[in-house]
Amino acid sequence: RLRVYCTDQANSCVPKAVRVAGAGEPVLVPTVPGAHVMDLAAQVDADLAAGLRPFAVVATVGTTSTGAVDPVTDLARHCRRYGLWLHLDGAHGAAFALSARGHDMREALGQADSLTFDPHKWLFQPYETGCVLVRDPELLKATFRMARHHLDTGYLHPAEARHGEVNFDDLGPQQSRGLRALKVWLSLKTFGAAAFRRAVEHGLHLSDHAAARIAAHPGLELTSTPSLAILTFRCRPTDGSADPATVDRLQQSVSDAVRATGQALVLTTRVRNRTVLRMCTINPATTPADIDATLELVLQTALAR
Ligand SMILES: Cc1ncc(COP(=O)(O)O)c(C=O)c1O
Repeated sequence: RLRVYCTDQANSCVPKAVRVAGAGEPVLVPTVPGAHVMDLAAQVDADLAAGLRPFAVVATVGTTSTGAVDPVTDLARHCRRYGLWLHLDGAHGAAFALSARGHDMREALGQADSLTFDPHKWLFQPYETGCVLVRDPELLKATFRMARHHLDTGYLHPAEARHGEVNFDDLGPQQSRGLRALKVWLSLKTFGAAAFRRAVEHGLHLSDHAAARIAAHPGLELTSTPSLAILTFRCRPTDGSADPATVDRLQQSVSDAVRATGQALVLTTRVRNRTVLRMCTINPATTPADIDATLELVLQTALAR
């Protein structure tokens, strides 16, 4: 009877987490056509009327496929109104808040009850450094604190006994753990936040550059505008074929062939139920010339099909 809401563009980790939490399957709220963002209106009312128990919304800040951003401020208002927990999946997109363009996102992220963020994505860290930030850390302690379990082994002492020291055992399900945060801390200390800001802005610039090239080329078609350094597009078949299955197969075969060259990774995804090519331009070592060369490779590969 518990209800968690997300869109069909949420990452597969969302249904997995909801299942593990014992809340069944998330309700897939339709997205606004063309925008891939959540339209929660009416859904919660209908569920309450049906005697169900809405309790959380998972909104995405930077969907995996197209980098779309759910309307966080609207959703936060809905959540406050209905007393729902708002979780933001910012695994990819939260880093955007570092950039000048992403300034407004800082306020949006601040409305979450919890936020996931993967420094191993747009903060360029080695796998893996996924983390969750929670507005009220006392809730974590109330859930995970070792002392909560009333075992009296006399061996491990609750954190309170250690002068306020942070004990990660008390903040999550994992007990023995490595110091994953060290690499994030070390690279921030070494390069400074400004270097990360510049690198994020570079990724945004590259996706704008790619979109302009695609829009200007008759052999290519943009299928979603760049959002958080992700964009999608397709090759137009050289024989003018408009058959959707043929056009979809072309994208897949171009992606496979480009990948096989080892020069670039342009994977496919689905947008409005069609196969499209997807570029994610966050590598700070990539240059505009690399983008041009990749698009040229895509075009030549499509020509050869
Ligand atoms: C929006 C989003 N959320 C979550 C994930 C899961 O990432 P990971 O398993 O690397 O933490 C991804 C991965 O692509 C993602 O794009």
